[in-house]
Amino acid sequence: MVEYELKGLFNQNTLSTSDISNNNNYNNQQLFDHIIRGNANSEMLTYLLNMNHQRLNDFKSMHQYNYGNFASLMNSVEQYNEIENDETILLPKPLRIKNKLQQVLKKRKSVRNYIGLSCDLRELSTILMYSFGISGRKENFGGIVASMRYYASGGALYPISVIIYINKVDGLKKGLYLYQPMYHSLLPLNIKTQIDINKLFVGSNIDVKNSSFFVFYKYAISSTYLKYGELSLANILIEAGMMAQNFSLVTTACGFGSCPIAGYNKRFIEDICNLDHVNEHIIFTESCGRNE
Ligand SMILES: Cc1cc2nc3c(=O)[nH]c(=O)nc-3n(C[C@H](O)[C@H](O)[C@H](O)COP(=O)(O)O)c2cc1C
Repeated sequence: MVEYELKGLFNQNTLSTSDISNNNNYNNQQLFDHIIRGNANSEMLTYLLNMNHQRLNDFKSMHQYNYGNFASLMNSVEQYNEIENDETILLPKPLRIKNKLQQVLKKRKSVRNYIGLSCDLRELSTILMYSFGISGRKENFGGIVASMRYYASGGALYPISVIIYINKVDGLKKGLYLYQPMYHSLLPLNIKTQIDINKLFVGSNIDVKNSSFFVFYKYAISSTYLKYGELSLANILIEAGMMAQNFSLVTTACGFGSCPIAGYNKRFIEDICNLDHVNEHIIFTESCGRNE
């Protein structure tokens, strides 16, 4: 079906007169042709060409972190970064996941439509714990004991925080919460203002109304740039991917469906999460709902 509102934009002869670099007026195939010949700039190509190139500043910073054992020091006091007050919700003990890994891997798929029944707190607790939580494994780094998680992290810095929008979870008010892994708790961030969930994602292919909750992966540049410099970006995107894969598998195992979503309204979600848009970014999102 032709979407008439967009029809002009599909026309290959439509031109934008306000684009100084003129890149908007190509399609991506033409633009790629120019980039690969060196006639147009691509932030992505520049990044990839320089990725893993260790400069003196990187060498200094990484060694300072490693020899100073900074990650373990920060890890050992991580619980003080978490807020426990009257509003904090301590999540109940997670359920045991009994399904076989092979079956879960086979069953996993992106699920965008949900049956609308709510999720209970124990199920939410199970999903959050095994996707993003503290695994109970301790590692001793030079005499400092660190608590490890269910996913890998570059330099064990765990720079990505998980913000949850609760839509249909028994016993929880709709709104935004921060998942606090050390205490396995939820800290309400914004449960007072009404948020239009139809604005979260681009397009309308996600059944937002019947979703149980959404996950927003938040990254602050300051949490890794001090050590990894420009390499941070590659590291954190990979790390978010690993967290997202845990989430896909755990939700599948718990009888839920989820969908990784790159098509989210970044500015809108950052606004409702009260992020500064400079240091703090939402780098990926997911939806989740009951589908069986
Ligand atoms: C990085 C990434 C971004 C994605 N973004 C979206 C998205 O914005 N909207 C959507 O409906 N699906 C999105 N998906 C889901 C893919 O469409 C889906 O994984 C793909 O079609 C393969 O299907 P499967 O996951 O069911 O195996 C995304 C998946 C990945 C890995």
